[in-house]
Amino acid sequence: MGTVTTAATKKPSSASSKAAPAKSSSPAKRQQDACSLLDADHKAVKAMFKEYETLTESRSRSTAKKRELADQICKELTVHATIEEEIFYPAARKAIKDNALMNEATVEHASAKELIAQIKAMDANDEMFDAKVTVLGEYIDHHVKEERTEMFVKVRQTKLDLVKLGEQLQLRKEALMAEQDTGIVPVLEASTAL
Ligand SMILES: [Fe+2]
Ligand SMILES: [Fe+2]
Repeated sequence: MGTVTTAATKKPSSASSKAAPAKSSSPAKRQQDACSLLDADHKAVKAMFKEYETLTESRSRSTAKKRELADQICKELTVHATIEEEIFYPAARKAIKDNALMNEATVEHASAKELIAQIKAMDANDEMFDAKVTVLGEYIDHHVKEERTEMFVKVRQTKLDLVKLGEQLQLRKEALMAEQDTGIVPVLEASTAL
């Protein structure tokens, strides 16, 4: 194939070194459209539920791990539900004009949140703990299926700018994640007073 003489051997230093320091959210990541971004969350949470299931089957003394995983699931789901409710659902409701579908999804969120609150308040040694997490997983499975096969399909048929919406979702998600981790509400539009 010969030697490829690329001029693309970029040196990160030199003139562009005054660029902003690396931030975790790359521009590429922000190009993800809203449905893909939400579905990536769905897959991530599904994997966590699977991992939890494995823990319950192992019968090892894994209460601490279960607690940690259940908390992680609750955190991911809380953030996911919030960005959907704040940003995606209102836009979808307006675009697809299917109030019944949107109302159902909203009610499902409310029920999931109730279960999440119970799990967070519960001792991981409680004999009902595994059942609560398992049922939450089943519940989310059902909900996600409806989003994927109905809501997202309908939304994709509209003129909604899903890339722009995805960007908004990503930004809000990052802020909420930070909030969940630190308990501090981040300033979204930081005053540029420096
Ligand atoms: Fe949802
Ligand atoms: Fe969702």
